[in-house]
Amino acid sequence: MNRKLFEPYRIKDVELKNRIVMSPMCMYSSMDEDGKLTPFHFTHYISRAAGQTGLIMLEASAVTPQGRISPQDLGIWSDEHTPELARLVKEIKSYGSAAAIQLAHAGRKAVLEEEIASSSALAFNDNSKRPVAMTIEKIQETIQAFRDGARRSREAGFDIIEIHGAHGYLINQFLSPLSNHRDDEYGGSAENRYRFLKEVIDAVKTEWSGPLFVRVSATDYHPEGLTPDDHVLFAKWMKEQGVDLIDVSSGALVPADIPVYPGYQVPFADKIRREAGIATGAVGMITHGLQAEEILRSERADLIFVARELLRDPYWPRTAASQLGTSIEPPVQYERGWK
Ligand code: FNR
Repeated sequence: MNRKLFEPYRIKDVELKNRIVMSPMCMYSSMDEDGKLTPFHFTHYISRAAGQTGLIMLEASAVTPQGRISPQDLGIWSDEHTPELARLVKEIKSYGSAAAIQLAHAGRKAVLEEEIASSSALAFNDNSKRPVAMTIEKIQETIQAFRDGARRSREAGFDIIEIHGAHGYLINQFLSPLSNHRDDEYGGSAENRYRFLKEVIDAVKTEWSGPLFVRVSATDYHPEGLTPDDHVLFAKWMKEQGVDLIDVSSGALVPADIPVYPGYQVPFADKIRREAGIATGAVGMITHGLQAEEILRSERADLIFVARELLRDPYWPRTAASQLGTSIEPPVQYERGWK
């Protein structure tokens, strides 16, 4: 019997050799606050490519220095970042994996010395810094930074771009009425709160014709916050704009008690997939081959994003194959000892 987890998946001109995605994970390992890759990043990402993960997605990479979560974040705000990113992409591809990058701006969740900015001047919680509300000029500059990030991603040879619209970072701060109290065209109605993401997507698409993913937090876990129904509407709009896949996460816009259990976010991926008619990725405590296979076979999502389990086991695709009673091809160098 075929295992769906190991079936190729095609989006536009990109073919993933299986449905396993290394979920973006900040490693807080750039040195000298320059947003650049270090030898650690090469080891970290390339070992998961050698482990046969179909798509390696680099961590949240800041489109402006102000958009970093921490000074150690990876960045793509300068042309100086491109050559080393290109070298990493080439290495990842040499193992047959595709390479993606997550373009991000932390907004009010930045933990930086300098001024931080958001949709409105509302702090994340009592212990965090109060951001300044972005002016229209600042909004336009930030959209341009996403566009430049997309151009550099193309120049570096990435196969896929993901826009980080989840986890309470800047785009999420514009989307949610909890963090967006603006009274101009970027706040108020759902359409207005969506405008920033809409313009980011359009700007990215002027530089990028390849597959485009957007990660969202499908619920704010708050009575006045965004719900999965709101995200079905946003996903329909994203589909009209040409987004290819919604990577469905949840929470982290405001402090909340989140019920966490294996596959806890899969129902959101399922709902958005069915009701908006768009491909989705499922993420969150997916750790076993059978669990991943069930999600795909039940058509609840199209791709499986794995984060912490790939930290614990860089060869998780091999583990999952064994759990599914099958085996996968190793990198050529390992052919003699893999099985
Ligand atoms: C994350 N996560 C995350 N998400 C994201 O969209 N961009 C990011 O840069 C990060 N950074 C990050 C760092 C670390 C150390 C962890 C553990 C997680 C969230 C991650 O991609 C994933 O959604 C969650 O970890 C849930 O999946 P798992 O870990 O249960 O498979």
